[in-house]
Amino acid sequence: MRLAVNIDHFATLREARKSNVPEPVLAALLAEQAGASGIVCHIRGDRRHIKERDLQVLRKTIKTKLNIEMAATQEMKQIAIEIMPDTVSLVPEQEHELTTQGGLDVIKNKIQLSAHIKALQRRGMKVSIFVDPSEKQIKTCKELNVDLIEINTGKYAELKPGDERDHAEGEIKKAAQNAHEIGLEVHAGHGLDYWNICPIAAIEEITEFSIGFSIVARSSIVGVNKAVKDMIQLLE
Ligand code: PXP
Repeated sequence: MRLAVNIDHFATLREARKSNVPEPVLAALLAEQAGASGIVCHIRGDRRHIKERDLQVLRKTIKTKLNIEMAATQEMKQIAIEIMPDTVSLVPEQEHELTTQGGLDVIKNKIQLSAHIKALQRRGMKVSIFVDPSEKQIKTCKELNVDLIEINTGKYAELKPGDERDHAEGEIKKAAQNAHEIGLEVHAGHGLDYWNICPIAAIEEITEFSIGFSIVARSSIVGVNKAVKDMIQLLE
């Protein structure tokens, strides 16, 4: 089971003062040294945290896999082609949202996404789709021939332990099994932290977790090395 660390919020802290520290690329290198299997970041239309410069330096320096989250727009496609990450994760994006709200609606956007995905894959990038735990959405991801999916754990993560959360966990498990059965590689992420990760980490079909905010928050207190190692220990 792999951990990919999302470094966006090291850049959020930097941008809070329009400074050049903390250096998100340095955080990425420390995360790798602590055992992360990949680095994730999200370049948003408004560039509120990660910027092109970060992508360029990350691409040249990290030794594991680079996964860039982005909206399926022409502007972002061009950036992906210039940077050539290992994986592009397509996510929905709304201008003033605090964080990504829900998975991408692949059913509604199927025709536009099909050309977009092919263009990225043709150039050698893997394509992932951030998707809600819905059988119909996942089936459409398969029809779109994506390389993998990332199941949105956001709804589960917002709930306190109890029946409602157990239900959300069940939906994720069912979706992961279903995706695995139809031949998709399954990742998961959004809102996962040191307290809610264990039930989701127990789902065998999920091979990688994409976790950002909780690791960055813990890093600010105990350092990147310990924050990443603590999460890996829970995943194991
Ligand atoms: N996966 C996706 C698609 C995301 O957009 C984000 C947030 O950028 C994450 C995972 C990580 O979420 P969090 O920061 O809550 O761990």
